Amino acid sequence: MCGIVGYIGPRAAAPLLVEGLRNLEYRGYDSAGVALLDGGTLSVRKRVGRLSNLEDALATEPASGRLGIGHTRWATHGEPSEANSHPHLDSRNRIAVVHNGIIENYAELREELKARGHVFRSETDTEVIPRLIEEELRAAPGDFAEALRRAIGRLRGAFALGVITADAPEALFAVREGSPLIVGLGEGETFIASDVPAVLRHVRRAIYLRDGEMAEITPDRVRVRRLDGTEVRPDTQNVDLNPEAAERAGFETFMLKEIHEQPRVIRQLLKTYVGPDDRPRFESLGLSPDYFQILRRVMIVSCGTAYHAGIYGRLLFENLTGLAAEADLGSEFRYRGPRIEKDTLVIAVSQSGETADTLASVRLARRKKCKILSICNVRGSSLARESDAVLFTDAGPEIGVASTKAYTAQLTSFALLAIHVGLLREELDPARAAELIAGLRAVPDAIHYVLDRKEAIRAVADKHHSGPSSMYLGRKFNFPTALEGALKNKEISYQHAEGYAAGELKHGPIALINEYLPVVCVCTRTRDEVYEKTLSNLKEVEARHGRIIAVANDGDTTVAGLAEDTLYVPEVPEELSPIVNVVTLQLLAYYAAQARGTDIDKPRNLAKSVTVE
Ligand code: F6R
Repeated sequence: MCGIVGYIGPRAAAPLLVEGLRNLEYRGYDSAGVALLDGGTLSVRKRVGRLSNLEDALATEPASGRLGIGHTRWATHGEPSEANSHPHLDSRNRIAVVHNGIIENYAELREELKARGHVFRSETDTEVIPRLIEEELRAAPGDFAEALRRAIGRLRGAFALGVITADAPEALFAVREGSPLIVGLGEGETFIASDVPAVLRHVRRAIYLRDGEMAEITPDRVRVRRLDGTEVRPDTQNVDLNPEAAERAGFETFMLKEIHEQPRVIRQLLKTYVGPDDRPRFESLGLSPDYFQILRRVMIVSCGTAYHAGIYGRLLFENLTGLAAEADLGSEFRYRGPRIEKDTLVIAVSQSGETADTLASVRLARRKKCKILSICNVRGSSLARESDAVLFTDAGPEIGVASTKAYTAQLTSFALLAIHVGLLREELDPARAAELIAGLRAVPDAIHYVLDRKEAIRAVADKHHSGPSSMYLGRKFNFPTALEGALKNKEISYQHAEGYAAGELKHGPIALINEYLPVVCVCTRTRDEVYEKTLSNLKEVEARHGRIIAVANDGDTTVAGLAEDTLYVPEVPEELSPIVNVVTLQLLAYYAAQARGTDIDKPRNLAKSVTVE
């Protein structure tokens, strides 16, 4: 999605804005632009395509100023073009605005402004904003912040804004209403950004603006007000991300680095959430043991990869806690008229904590008086703030657009949580819980084992990547693994891929099987109740000459005898096998993408943080 940066301070703003935008590239974009103020002179540069095009424009035609705003745009209203890219200006070219999110009532505002003589230069929803401010300023000249505040009062939707104006050349304005925005505090300089990594190198403290707040930033002061005009004390927090953590650390891509970080992330989660008695400890969640006794149902909401984690969570809750559990997509849940009451715990899963559909589901659940527990990777995110309890996955910044370490951290979190609730409700035998905790402790090494075999995975990807399509199969706990493997493959290699519950094969998808179709089948754990059934599914594929790529436990000659290629993983308890198995599928997708020559960290059309519905 779009990215915002802004700067005010003693240094030349343009290089800092471009650096910030580069750090936000991972969010996905199709054009970029900056606006700089030098005294009363406003300069704007915009380019379609990569940031390097904007840099070239700035090199040919430099723009000076120690105050500025920048934006990477991911097209929603109007095609990617210079006219549609941000910043957008008022009719006098004195106010510049960058915007993330959507203005829902822009069409009516545009008509109203046209009737007052405004001639629009773009097709965007954003352009109404500088023009509304201009109108407010015309009605009551003088106080720019007031005019901005009144103009915002006319907007409906979710947005974050950065604003500068030649009418107040010593101030940077920031507004948050439903889309994330921070004010980063450096040494004698201040930044704004839609995401902390944009300004990580320069700030150690940040104000996480809340919805309905605006900041007026001058060289020596940050003044935060609510949009109703009341002053608020800014909520300043330490920025605890380490700049090195956002670097690639020698890996060729962020995605590969993040795949390799998974053992460390899981070890850290176990350190945080397993007590010295080897039982999960979740006192910090603030949900009392009594609450879990009165609870009747768990409803998990999330999107994309996090939805696959939700399906896994549902299976674990059903198997270990005796609670009824459901998992739904954020975008569906909110429209299906869910019958949830206060005896339902809603668990929202999100890496970014800013996914619009997940947030909307949480707000609906809150209106229905449910408690909200989120499994989230970003402290200070909207989801974290709006939840009654948060289980932070603390996987560190995930820069690769395709989610990897956040996913396995979500699975691990679900495992710990379900064991905890199962023990509290006396539905889970403590001896089995101890086995599962021991199993979780073995997971990081099992993932290392898979990582050490990446050349074998690469060889299989090299062999099978070129076809137009592939199928992924798995059952029970590894049904979400199949969905996630297929999603990873289509996201980064652009090969069409379908994930299916293996038992569904004969209900339709078997028609696709021929001697060309790669069928990736997760068939681990010989003692698991669905192992034999999955073997039968493999035989169905074999009989139709499908090209089977199996993920199997070490030494499983039965599966190997059926498959064209077998990728081995170590055996861990059935319930935990998805955390290990998916790493093989992440790497399979990774090497397929590499063979197909795609932009792995920034796949086309995708955005890291989906802040629009
Ligand atoms: C896929 C991927 C997306 C996200 C989804 C939800 O690799 O990253 O499917 O999982 O957009 O995002 P979060 O977890 O930030 O809510």
